[in-house]
Amino acid sequence: MNVLVIGGGGREHALCWKLRQSPKLDRLFCAPGNAGIARDAECVAVNPSDHDAVIAFCRANDVELVVVGPEQPLVEGLVDSLTAAGIRAFGPTAKAAQLEGSKGFTKDLCARHGIPTAAYRRFTEATAARDWALARPLPVVVKADGLAAGKGVVVAATHDEAIAHIDAIFADADAALVIEDFLAGEEASFFAIVDGADAVAFGSAGDHKRVGDGDTGPNTGGMGAFCPAPIVTPALEREVMERIVLPTARAMVADGMPFRGVLFAGLMIGADGPQLIEFNTRFGDPECEVLMARLGSDLLDLLLAACDGRLADVRPEWRAPCAATVVMAAEGYPGTPKKGTPIRGVEAAEAAGAIIFHAGTARDSSGGLVANGGRVLAVTAIGDSMTAAISGAYKGVDAIDWPGGFCRRDIGRRAIG
Ligand code: AMP
Ligand code: GLY
Repeated sequence: MNVLVIGGGGREHALCWKLRQSPKLDRLFCAPGNAGIARDAECVAVNPSDHDAVIAFCRANDVELVVVGPEQPLVEGLVDSLTAAGIRAFGPTAKAAQLEGSKGFTKDLCARHGIPTAAYRRFTEATAARDWALARPLPVVVKADGLAAGKGVVVAATHDEAIAHIDAIFADADAALVIEDFLAGEEASFFAIVDGADAVAFGSAGDHKRVGDGDTGPNTGGMGAFCPAPIVTPALEREVMERIVLPTARAMVADGMPFRGVLFAGLMIGADGPQLIEFNTRFGDPECEVLMARLGSDLLDLLLAACDGRLADVRPEWRAPCAATVVMAAEGYPGTPKKGTPIRGVEAAEAAGAIIFHAGTARDSSGGLVANGGRVLAVTAIGDSMTAAISGAYKGVDAIDWPGGFCRRDIGRRAIG
């Protein structure tokens, strides 16, 4: 079977690396891919926003499954277009991707179906939002609605901070926001593969959002991850499936927009059990890297089972108890990263037992590997314990010779207590 993966980051490299291992796979394409993905797949210059071009490519190359990595093409309806053209696609439709694209949509769905999440109100103008925020206990959480807003989430310790974020969001007249109560507890990321009303748990992870050691400095896309999150015990996994994932899947079916794809729940686990912070409708990056490194089952089988309504027949199996990944980023990230600096030692890191997933990499004119983005490599290892997985990943990092890059030195530490 020929498969096309959409995307070009560390997440898509991990997906391609894992799909490549399937005996059912014939040709694997990735659009656009990157220098590392080029070892596992044929990188092609098809623009994912041009749905006709993607469909034409699939027809010309007998692609029977398209796997969409990032959120943007999902929200743009790539899966809708492929499905209408009769091409199998793994990922939610644009309507179902609202679970990630609109925080207000998700909060209303939770409220209607009794899914545990923080108490909230939605606002479309500043005065009412300010009055509400001033009346809430601190800290109070202010979230811009919608993917494009890009102004994100502020956990405000003071009312002044909350008001400043409300005003910043409403600088755009069409903006909307959600104000919600602060949840105390421990965060974990939870993954499920969903097909309509069916869903299977697909592991848990912890991530590291801040750029600096000890969770300091600005937020990033993620500087590292570990899998599983120790707090997500088998009993907690059942509770999350029963109280959050399955009710969401059923609600989406009942509302006429069945969800198919990866449901990634950001959880806060506190005294009242797991509460939903947010959904993403795709694999996380770098969470996908640790999940794929650990997965024993054939990924192509799992994705096809989800697409073909056979999810009830499959259960993911894990080949190692733990995995960790350390992101190496280019100097300047998360601001403007320096591009073009040479990277050596990837083979030495692989010889040391690490799996190297590429994110922002390219080849220079003489074929040498160079940095070409913010997050550049995800250096990954599995292990019999979290300590072993973390030390395997750092062995890989230490074998890489890249003066233009940096990483955190404390990835996974909070998972070993
Ligand atoms: P989100 O983009 O909704 O995942 O929020 C980003 C981060 O803000 C989360 O990973 C949490 O660390 C924090 N956060 C969001 N909502 C809450 C909440 N209600 N209570 C506590 N922390 C929150
Ligand atoms: N690492 C967080 C995300 O992919 O959303």
